[in-house]
Amino acid sequence: MQKYAFNSIYTHFFTRNCYLCSEISNKSKNYIEMIIEKIQELMGEVTNLQAKTAEEAEALRIKYLSKKGEITALMNDFRNVPAEQKKEVGMKINQLKNMAQEKINALKEAVQTEQTAGSAVDLTRTPYPIPLGTRHPLTIVKNEIIDIFGRLGFTLAEGPEVEDDWHVYSSLNFADDHPARDMQDTFFVESHPDIILRSHTSSVQARVMESTQPPIRVICPGRVYRNEAISARAHCFFHQVEGLYIDKDVSFTDLKQVLLLFAQEMFGPDTKIRLRPSFFPFTEPSAEMDISCNICGGEGCSFCKHTGWVEILGCGMVDPAVLEANGIDSKIYKGYAFGMGIERITNLKYQVKDLRMFSENDVRFLREFEAAN
Ligand code: PHE
Repeated sequence: MQKYAFNSIYTHFFTRNCYLCSEISNKSKNYIEMIIEKIQELMGEVTNLQAKTAEEAEALRIKYLSKKGEITALMNDFRNVPAEQKKEVGMKINQLKNMAQEKINALKEAVQTEQTAGSAVDLTRTPYPIPLGTRHPLTIVKNEIIDIFGRLGFTLAEGPEVEDDWHVYSSLNFADDHPARDMQDTFFVESHPDIILRSHTSSVQARVMESTQPPIRVICPGRVYRNEAISARAHCFFHQVEGLYIDKDVSFTDLKQVLLLFAQEMFGPDTKIRLRPSFFPFTEPSAEMDISCNICGGEGCSFCKHTGWVEILGCGMVDPAVLEANGIDSKIYKGYAFGMGIERITNLKYQVKDLRMFSENDVRFLREFEAAN
């Protein structure tokens, strides 16, 4: 391909009556003619450009419009066009450049639509339905519990699963050598015996108490760990929701009423509750709460061991020693606390026979809960 390198012919500054200038001016006539001829030739070429593939169209762009392309070379030569002709020549070069750009873009678009139309992809086809996942049954039940207590004015509090002894035990009135620590078989970190996996979410209540003054009304959902042999009825981790209410005039009656309301919201308006005396280091008095068996309606079945009642939670009035250990004046404030296992509530609602199914990630099991979502 012929290259037009007109650059640097005219280094002399044009003046009207200068001999050299008139010489140059004569030469420049030819030069201008050559440029215009070249522009016209290129315009003809550009109008007839053809491309079958995207690569061919791109090769044309490089040939005419790239840094080293023919039109760019012409534009470089434009510098040497005498001022009087700059306007005319400039307009023509611009026209050529626009023509080339439009033509090459049109070619690119044409080959692209041709290629897409020719391929096997049908853009108008309805897509395959993307299956929506379901919430995990424990999450469904946890959200329900949070919702019920939320309506009673409880807010949410969360804390770490890897905890220190203070928040899980000592601040909650567990003496160092108290056998109650054995009630909850704890996982210890061998090199740091003070660091443990929390065995209940009461540790979150301790954290709330140490950082907030009453009134306090929180529920603390989360995963907890206990060193138990894994079977259909026990696992080394499970989930809890614990609650704490501290204010000036809080009584056991309040606790009982709130728990009755919770049980009836969760399991239906006919649900009955009963409280049995129990022991927890952090509550005094303490109780265990049963509800009338949701499965047989209190008649007696294998789930309730034919008693008509199933235990669902532990509760009690917060021991004043716990309030004091966490910086709350026990002469002014009182409180109640309760804690339940989400797996147990879920079993009662959905009758899941084997606890291990909750953590096996079997989608056939999880799909059973689509409707409950
Ligand atoms: N933290 C107790 C447990 O995990 C439950 C509980 C909470 C009991 C609050 C009484 C009051 O077993």
